[in-house]
Amino acid sequence: MNTLNKTLTCTVAALTFATALYASETDVLVINEEITIPTSAPAPEGSPLDKVISGWSFRKHETQALQMDDFDNPSFIFVDKASDQWTKVEGTEGKSCASCHEDVEAFKGLRTVLPRWNEAKSELYSMENYINDCRTERMGAEPWKWSKGKMTAMTALISLQSRGLPMSVKTDGPVEPAMKLGKELYYTRVGQLDMACSNCHEDNYGVMIRADHLSQGQINGFPTYRLKNSKLNSTHARFKGCMKNIRAKPFGQGSAEFKALELYVASRGNGLSVESPAVRN
Ligand code: HEC
Ligand code: HEC
Repeated sequence: MNTLNKTLTCTVAALTFATALYASETDVLVINEEITIPTSAPAPEGSPLDKVISGWSFRKHETQALQMDDFDNPSFIFVDKASDQWTKVEGTEGKSCASCHEDVEAFKGLRTVLPRWNEAKSELYSMENYINDCRTERMGAEPWKWSKGKMTAMTALISLQSRGLPMSVKTDGPVEPAMKLGKELYYTRVGQLDMACSNCHEDNYGVMIRADHLSQGQINGFPTYRLKNSKLNSTHARFKGCMKNIRAKPFGQGSAEFKALELYVASRGNGLSVESPAVRN
C-alpha cells in the first residue's frame, strides 16, 4: 500500500482508490468534425511525467462527446454572451473592448503564453489581470470578480482564439520566483488529508477516486464548463475546489499563490493543445 492510500484509508474511509484504469489514449478529439486536437504530447524538459495528457482523455465518452461539437458544448452559451459583452460600452470613458481591440481574433495565441510577467506592473499576470486592467484603467469601469460569470465568459471567448495551439508559458527570467513558489505549493502536503497536488495528479493519475477518473490536473481546457455546477469554471476556482476536497484552506482566487500555481501547472502542460472552453464533470 503506498503512502497515499495509507493516508486516505486512515483519514477518510469515504475516499477510495480502485485499481489503475488508464486514460483512453486511443480516443481522438475532433471538434465539429473538422478540428483534430492532439490530447497528449511529449512531456516538457525536466518534467516528472513521461508524457502530458489532457483531462479530456480521462472523461467518460458522454462527457467527451459534449466537447466534440460546439453546439453541444454548453460553454458556447457563455462564449456568445461574451461576444455581446465585447461590443458593450461601459464605464466613464464610453468604450467597449471593441473600441480598442476591434476583433477578438487578434488574441490568437495569447492563452498559450499566460500567465506571464507583466513588465510594466512588475507582476505575474493571468488573463483576468489584463482584462481587469483594461476595465479599470482604460474604460473607467468596475473590475469583474475573478471567477464570476462575466469574467469566465470573456476568458473563454479569448482563450477559444487559441484552441488547438500548444501551451508554451515562459518559465525563466523574472517569473523564476513564481515558478519556484508554484512548484513548492504543488508538492507541499496540506489540509486534514495531508495531501499535495502531486499525490493525486502525478502519482495516481489514471486511477479511480470515488467515481472520478484522476487526470494529470492539466489546465489546457480552462475555463472549463463543469456538469457539476453547470457553468464555466476558472483555473483558480478548480484549484480552490481541489484544496477544499483535501480539507485545506484555499488561497484566494487571483492571489499571488494561485497565480504562481497556475503558472507552474501550465508549465507542466507545455506542449499540450489548448482546448478551452472544455467540458468536464
Ligand atoms: C481604451 C482602449 C482599450 C479598451 C477599451 C480595452 N482595452 Fe484591452 N488593452 C488595451 C491596451 C492598450 C492593451 C495593452 C496592449 C499591449 O501592451 O500590447 C490592452 C491589453 C489587453 C489584453 C492583453 C493582451 C496582450 O497581448 O497582452 C487583454 C486580454 C485585453 N486587453 C482585453 C480587453 C477586454 C476583454 C476589454 C473589454 C472588457 C478591453 N481589453 C478593453 C486597450 C484597451
Ligand atoms: C485527493 C486527490 C486530489 C488532490 C490532492 C488534488 N486534486 Fe485536483 N482533482 C482531483 C479530482 C478527483 C479531479 C477531477 C478528475 C480529474 O480531472 O482529475 C481533479 C481535477 C483537477 C483539475 C481539472 C483538470 C481538468 O482537466 O479539467 C485541475 C486543474 C486540478 N485538479 C488541479 C489540482 C491542484 C493544483 C491541486 C493541488 C492544489 C490538486 N488538484 C489537488 C483530485 C485531487
